[in-house]
Amino acid sequence: MGLVIRLFTLVAILVAVFAVIFTVDIFKPYRQKIIDVIPDSIRNSVISISDVKRMKSGKVYTKEELSKYKGENGSPVYLAVLGHVFDVTKGKKHYGPGGGYEFFAGRDGTRGYVTGEFNDKGLIEDISGFTLSQIHSVNHWLQFYMKDYTFKGYLLGNYFDEHGNPSEAKLEFDRKLVFANKAEDEKKADIVMFPPCNSQFKAGQGKTLWCSNFSGGIQREWVGVPRQYFRPGETHARCACVKNIGPPSDQPDTKNHKNNGDLDNPGMKLYEGCDPNVDSCYFPEK
Ligand code: HEM
Repeated sequence: MGLVIRLFTLVAILVAVFAVIFTVDIFKPYRQKIIDVIPDSIRNSVISISDVKRMKSGKVYTKEELSKYKGENGSPVYLAVLGHVFDVTKGKKHYGPGGGYEFFAGRDGTRGYVTGEFNDKGLIEDISGFTLSQIHSVNHWLQFYMKDYTFKGYLLGNYFDEHGNPSEAKLEFDRKLVFANKAEDEKKADIVMFPPCNSQFKAGQGKTLWCSNFSGGIQREWVGVPRQYFRPGETHARCACVKNIGPPSDQPDTKNHKNNGDLDNPGMKLYEGCDPNVDSCYFPEK
């Protein structure tokens, strides 16, 4: 019973701390840093909860109505992502007439955000066929607009009906997003365990792959050695810096280890022509 009360108190304190940080303005500069360290799967549900109140107040726009908000003749600029309409007038230099991203204004061009196809064929709501990684990317843009711009309401179309209720396509997106966030968390953990190598290609000379204690943007105490790394289920390898001392990363507390880190991981393959013990491999151009 004591444990339940202690757990309840801890959760209550955490909720109170988050509530203060996400509502009091002086904490605004720290919010993104806090959000960045939370795993995607938790982060997105926290953000959704904080957005619920704001999102309930939205109105429903038709496509014709939305198309009038392109910043022409001093009108505001609106756009939609995944059927969520935002006022982006404060970003008029990007989205207004003559701006580098004016093609996003007055419509829902969700697909184009991810494919980079910035024409009438690519700037559409439909995202059928998207991979989990692309779904994650759509959500990234949605969260970006939620954070930086003003939510106005919903677009009557692929994702919401005339009452602002989510369609089957939106519900399917939400279901897939759970898996997409999980896959992205796993990808991030994989990058930390097996950080990408540094690489440099010099035309006419060759390619160098090397490890340092900051390669792949992962600050660490060890340097590691370059290996071809095949993630489970993947046929393409990437260059990973593999920890070559201490216990394996997935059994950090084991005493019974060969002091060769992750070198025995079955996904690792030696680079032909590179000494297995060095932290830098040079492959002259043939
Ligand atoms: C799929 C590809 C891309 C998409 C969907 C995209 C989208 C966007 C959007 C929506 C903005 C405005 C953000 C805001 O409201 O503040 C923006 C800004 C910007 N983008 Fe991209 N972008 C893409 C690729 C690129 C690439 C490849 C580069 C550079 C080579 C680039 C450079 C920039 C820069 C520098 C800004 C900021 C401009 C400023 O603040 O004046 N973007 N991008």
